[in-house]
Amino acid sequence: MKRMTTILALACSVGVGLAFLASSTPAAADPGAALTTIAVSGPTAMGDYEYVGSSKCKKCHIKEYKSWAKTKMGMSFDSLQPGAAAEAKKAHDLDPEKDYSKDESCVGCHTTGHGHKGGYFFPDEADKKAVKKAKKLQGVGCEMCHGPGSEYIKIFQEITKSKRSYKVEELYAAGLTKIDESTCAACHNDKSATFDSAKPFDYEKQKEEGIHEHVALKQREE
Ligand code: HEC
Ligand code: HEC
Ligand code: HEC
Ligand code: HEC
Repeated sequence: MKRMTTILALACSVGVGLAFLASSTPAAADPGAALTTIAVSGPTAMGDYEYVGSSKCKKCHIKEYKSWAKTKMGMSFDSLQPGAAAEAKKAHDLDPEKDYSKDESCVGCHTTGHGHKGGYFFPDEADKKAVKKAKKLQGVGCEMCHGPGSEYIKIFQEITKSKRSYKVEELYAAGLTKIDESTCAACHNDKSATFDSAKPFDYEKQKEEGIHEHVALKQREE
């Protein structure tokens, strides 16, 4: 397959906040990739991994999935709809009646992997299959914190089957993210349209508040 490589100098402070190298396949094979040449406001993914969507994680992580789905991040696409979060929008000079769900400058932080392989794209409303696919990538999905899953999910599948123990470093080598404050700062920053400098992001506190329920890991080796 023909590949093109685009260097994106993004305006947002993501991770190291420098220029990123994003590989993408042609638009026909991946609608999300067509947007790679646009300066997307939001986090970027490193490497060649693809987004698979939160529903792929659900099967093995039902507790995390169900609790995540009820969080503000799980539902963050809804805030872009006309009429939603009207007070917050008014307070930040946004138009409460406008549909921001199709706005390039909003979806980067309110969806999963927009502008990257396998990530959120604007579906053709007449294409039922595409609409369904895009819907699964709405909201801040698992992979926005844990990294695009195309490779590490294969290792997790194998670990599930074999029931062997694992060291997390092998997953990190396949795209799983070692989460720290910078993971969140990719979106929780002053590029957010509703950013309030009086309420700066508090990592420890917000980590407790808004992510998902936790399950003790049994197969992971220290
Ligand atoms: C892909 C972007 C993105 C990443 C990465 C991200 N967040 Fe968020 N977060 C959002 C968005 C968007 C909202 C607002 C959702 C809404 O209300 O529509 C939000 C809301 C929240 C909320 C709800 C309370 C509030 O501030 O309004 C908490 C708590 C939170 N995030 C914690 C975190 C933590 C902790 C991390 C890192 C471990 C993180 N987030 C990573 C985008 C992100
Ligand atoms: C750089 C990432 C980023 C971008 C770009 C972004 N948001 Fe957000 N959005 C967030 C985060 C993080 C939060 C939660 C904390 C905050 O308000 O900063 C949030 C929260 C919100 C909320 C909920 C506020 C509340 O208090 O309930 C609305 C509504 C919203 N955003 C709308 C938008 C719209 C409309 C755009 C585009 C014009 C946009 N966002 C662009 C990251 C972003
Ligand atoms: C806003 C960031 C964020 C999102 C979104 C998120 N997670 Fe997590 N997840 C974390 C953090 C933080 C931890 C704690 C461990 C760590 O610091 O790496 C964690 C831990 C986990 C663990 C280890 C076991 C446990 O329960 O603690 C699993 C499994 C997991 N997440 C799966 C998921 C799945 C599945 C989704 C989507 C349905 C998801 N996560 C969404 C941030 C996130
Ligand atoms: C086929 C089942 C399966 C699927 C699908 C799956 N996982 Fe897992 N995952 C596992 C198993 C098994 C473990 C280890 C559980 C344990 O140690 O008890 C694990 C562990 C994890 C951990 C903890 C890693 C660590 O050691 O800190 C995270 C985070 C995680 N998964 C995220 C995800 C995300 C995100 C997805 C979707 C992109 C996903 N998983 C899909 C089976 C799966």
